[in-house]
Amino acid sequence: MSASWPYPTHIAHRGGGRLAPENTLAAMRVGAAHGFRMVEFDVKLSRDNVAFLLHDDDLDRTTDGCGPAGALPYTELVLLDAGGWHSPDYVGEPVASFQAVARYAIANHIACNVEIKPSPGREAETGTAVALTARALWQGATVAPLLSSFSEASLAAAQTAAPELPRALLVEQVPVDWRERLAKYDCVALNINQRDATPELIADVHAAGYRIAAWTVNEPARAQLLLSWGMDAIFTDELASISPLA
Ligand code: G3P
Ligand code: MG
Repeated sequence: MSASWPYPTHIAHRGGGRLAPENTLAAMRVGAAHGFRMVEFDVKLSRDNVAFLLHDDDLDRTTDGCGPAGALPYTELVLLDAGGWHSPDYVGEPVASFQAVARYAIANHIACNVEIKPSPGREAETGTAVALTARALWQGATVAPLLSSFSEASLAAAQTAAPELPRALLVEQVPVDWRERLAKYDCVALNINQRDATPELIADVHAAGYRIAAWTVNEPARAQLLLSWGMDAIFTDELASISPLA
């Protein structure tokens, strides 16, 4: 099995799961406060190529802005409220820069899964920029960030830009040629939809020399089952009931 897997079994999805506004620094603190030693978050580029955290293509659902997130320069993105949509406690929480979240995670010894989530049409440039930024931010750190993407163009660009950073292929559905794809991008892991998990798939991925992780597992019994099958890691939104401290 691949040696480059220093990651824990429990990963806080989008930083703080459902308990905090996703992909913010506040979410990272909530994840850490619940004992999570690894967080997942989504990164894309502003119009002027600053890497920042946001899941959707558009700003509307998780900020008080609107329209395509990649159309705004970073100086405008940082003025948005990315917390008020979640709950009153988080009103005024800003959009997080990749740099700020990386600094927090490294300082607090929290491992990161950086999901490269490009705005449409910017797949390769986002993969390149995120990988180069990650390389600079984590220089000298003990545990490298795991880069992943649904976009194979982003993953290929990340591989070219910073081949030394570990990568995971993120898939909506497990493709029949997953072995070839993992080899092509020199990945360490396959990140699957939890509904596709089976003991056979986990064994096959391990036998091929890779790790396997599943998103998004929100039922405690399901989490326990997948881990008992040998799943290497699970992403969860339910930080209270699916706890690494249990
Ligand atoms: O990286 C795992 C998971 O976050 C992928 O789905 O849509 O929540 O980014 P999504
Ligand atoms: Mg994600």
